[in-house]
Amino acid sequence: MRKPLMAGNWKMNKTAGEAVSMLKALKPEVADVNDVEILLCPVFTALYAANEEIKGSNINLGAQNLFWQPKGAFTGEISPSMVKDVGCSYVIIGHSERRQYFGETDETVNKKVIAAFAAGLIPVACVGETLKEREENVTFEVIEKQIRGGLAGLNAEQASSLVIAYEPVWAIGTGKTATPAQAQEVHAFIRKLYSEIYKDAADKVRILYGGSVNPQNVSELMKQDDIDGGLVGGASLEADSFAKLVKYAK
Ligand code: PGA
Repeated sequence: MRKPLMAGNWKMNKTAGEAVSMLKALKPEVADVNDVEILLCPVFTALYAANEEIKGSNINLGAQNLFWQPKGAFTGEISPSMVKDVGCSYVIIGHSERRQYFGETDETVNKKVIAAFAAGLIPVACVGETLKEREENVTFEVIEKQIRGGLAGLNAEQASSLVIAYEPVWAIGTGKTATPAQAQEVHAFIRKLYSEIYKDAADKVRILYGGSVNPQNVSELMKQDDIDGGLVGGASLEADSFAKLVKYAK
């Protein structure tokens, strides 16, 4: 059985102090949840304080990015072991905003995924088509290229523990969610494709849906066979709303 994962991607929001306040409010609201894994991904500068605040709780910490080199002359970058050292167990890789604004490609995503695993982190690797690609009926081709390129070269254990996030770009931050059926269709496609590459790991890999997930639509999405959780932006910023998401409650 795959344990559902509800992940919050805070993007470029919250100072360290604001992150700590949110976590203080969230902790008691989700303290009794043990059938869903909880993950929050603050900005780099809030990770240390966030980690201090969540110690001993059921909330996991993740970063939103890393660089694949272990150290050296790469001004402004942060290595996988630094992300691990500050308390993260997960890291988001290849979010569509990174692809769109910072030139990330399937090749850089692959380097980051491999480097994250090598440092003991679990990557949450993002894939998804743009509106233009959906309208041109190339969604499956686009996703296949992203999966084959971005997720190549994993061993069996890595392939099983990886988390994939399917985020249709047209649904991110727009209030337009894919319908549960639209999302399920792509999730099932991803799992089948993954089984061609990584065999049995396809039953274990968790595939999250992302794109305007909120307390109103979460329970229908979570009923789909191949949706194992959510990667949530806007609705993860406030404790009340994120606690509802974790409980699939309106
Ligand atoms: P959203 O963002 O929930 O605000 O649409 C999701 C994401 O980009 O991860």
